[in-house]
Amino acid sequence: MDPADLKQIERLSDLIRHHEHLYYALDRPEISDREYDRLIKNLETLEARHPEGILPDSPTQRVGGKADDKFPPITHRQAMLSLDNTYSLEELKAFHQRVLKGLEVDEVEYVAEPKIDGLGVALIYEDGSFMKGATRGDGKTGEDITANLKTIRSIPLRLKLEKFSKGIFEVRGEVYMDREAFWELNAGREKNGDPPFANPRNAAAGTVRLLDPSITATRPLDIWVYSLGHCDEPVPETHFESLELIRALGFRVNPETCLCKTFDDVFEQVETWKSKRSDMAYDVDGLVFKLNSLKSQAQLGRTAKHPRWAVAYKFEAEQAETRVLDIVVQVGRTGAITPVAELEPVLLSGSTVRRATLHNEDEIARLDVRVGDRVQIEKAGEIIPKVIAVLDKDKNRGNPVFTMPTRCPECKTKLRREEGEAVLRCENFNCPGQLKERLLHFGSRNAMDIDHLGDAVVAQLIGQCEVKRFSDLYNLKLEQVQNLERLGEKSGENLLSAIEKSKHAGLPRFIFGLGIRHVGQRVAQVLALTFGSMEKLATATPEELQAVEEIGPKIAQSLAEFFLREDNRNEVKRLAEFGVKPTEEMKNIAGRLSGKQLVLTGTLTTMTREEAKQKIQQAGGRVTSSVSAKTDYVVTGADPGSKAKKADKLGVPLINEDELLALLKDSLEE
Ligand code: IVH
Repeated sequence: MDPADLKQIERLSDLIRHHEHLYYALDRPEISDREYDRLIKNLETLEARHPEGILPDSPTQRVGGKADDKFPPITHRQAMLSLDNTYSLEELKAFHQRVLKGLEVDEVEYVAEPKIDGLGVALIYEDGSFMKGATRGDGKTGEDITANLKTIRSIPLRLKLEKFSKGIFEVRGEVYMDREAFWELNAGREKNGDPPFANPRNAAAGTVRLLDPSITATRPLDIWVYSLGHCDEPVPETHFESLELIRALGFRVNPETCLCKTFDDVFEQVETWKSKRSDMAYDVDGLVFKLNSLKSQAQLGRTAKHPRWAVAYKFEAEQAETRVLDIVVQVGRTGAITPVAELEPVLLSGSTVRRATLHNEDEIARLDVRVGDRVQIEKAGEIIPKVIAVLDKDKNRGNPVFTMPTRCPECKTKLRREEGEAVLRCENFNCPGQLKERLLHFGSRNAMDIDHLGDAVVAQLIGQCEVKRFSDLYNLKLEQVQNLERLGEKSGENLLSAIEKSKHAGLPRFIFGLGIRHVGQRVAQVLALTFGSMEKLATATPEELQAVEEIGPKIAQSLAEFFLREDNRNEVKRLAEFGVKPTEEMKNIAGRLSGKQLVLTGTLTTMTREEAKQKIQQAGGRVTSSVSAKTDYVVTGADPGSKAKKADKLGVPLINEDELLALLKDSLEE
């Protein structure tokens, strides 16, 4: 057997195992089910060619282990709709007016409920016993997560009233995690070197979809039930009464739920919740108002996505007040200098905030913020808190206006502001401040995903182990890292094995991890698929780069600048010497489209352009946006544009959709 093929089988198997671990064990997949299937198919193709190379523990030898069958589907008897959102009292009023108009009445009753930030589920009871639980999924079909839901103690396995012990009875609600439980869970995860969840919602959603219910059982999930689903037995006439029934049957119904007899009561709820939400033990991201009369609900009906009888009023980002203790500057991985306010610690959205970004010099001038000022800060979702206003502008004006430094706080290099940009930059590539941020980014979850490579460890690696570039990580010896502080209970050995493992992280992550300006995850993916190896990417001309769809002049220039630098080129070489030289696996599979350059024009009928592009890339081809002498085929759909003409002129063969499908079929079956 060709040793290269054997190596490829091993590499693919490792990669698949890595993604299986992320998907099944950690519940944080990084590739789509479709990409996963593609990897499996590649491996099967290779193994079919060399049956002697099939290892008993190959990922292809697992029975029924496909990712997309993780949970069997459940078709909802009634669609699980989502709610239309409103963000202001005016919008809320407009909703109310539509309701009045639709029903031809002057006043209606609503039920107000907190909108819980978790995961919507359906609980189905048959003859009074809990039979199935499902996620919302796409609204029509969800996933069967019965085993996990059974671990939530507050979900009754038997309904408490005789009345509903015949036929189907369904309720819907939100699975969530308390803020405190979330912090505790994360603290434990960090101690174990596991990546923390970003917020309680993610923690709940990840937990409820774990494959092993015994792990789910250890996590503090709970549920608020907020409506009936399909029921065989007759139900009450109002939503409020149905909630009372749901409570009587043994479910948790949120005690904050209340009846609004008039629209003034609705306004009052909005007012009350402004301060109340931060006192809650769990995240509430808005209020839901539902028409109380079920008959009126039916009369109003629904649009394709939302009921016309209910609406969500979304709260503004949570805010808090605190004092600015100092204003400092931070160096980012691309050298951007960001001013940051150091704050008197304050509780916001369930976490203690000590710093908030001030963005740039213009923003500081706009806010006119000075040390000692009382400020209002805001946090929306999981993003970094920011200062939004100074509250006591008449005070502290004697304090100096903050001015940005002229030199980098870390390496003292003179800072530069690019024309038309608000950002100051340190252009010293070897600046230790930048280096630290670059290493953190390189090891981050979406890049090389190196466990244990946190802030404190990176600082020590730079300070004590002379790590000056990414490749130095791969040259670390056990003696060097054994005694680093803050490695937690895990030893230096684990850090080294995490670093070793990252060699198989794959080309898209590697490209992303390099931290090239304007190259995010999506661009890295496109570049990996197009060029197939770091070597090819590094030697691509600006024209070749720009010919790739989705790569504009800004990205092309940034890439060109990066690879023009000798130290960067040497670094990529050195990384390869240490074994970090991933290739995009598809490229190695020979097919008729392998290495071919295609241009699409006109409308395709059996697939979208995006799908066509993906299929061509899977088959080893590249899709570029403009026709040149290098183009191998121009695919013409209906109403082809000028590209077809240009192809004709250059003598590039034109093929239609059927011919493309035939080429794809050959390539993918090869
Ligand atoms: S009622 C047709 N009530 O918010 C009514 N939903 O976009 C649909 N949610 O998917 C749901 N708290 O997961 C309703 N008290 C509440 C809710 C609530 C949270 C979630 C639910 C839904 C999403 C609406």
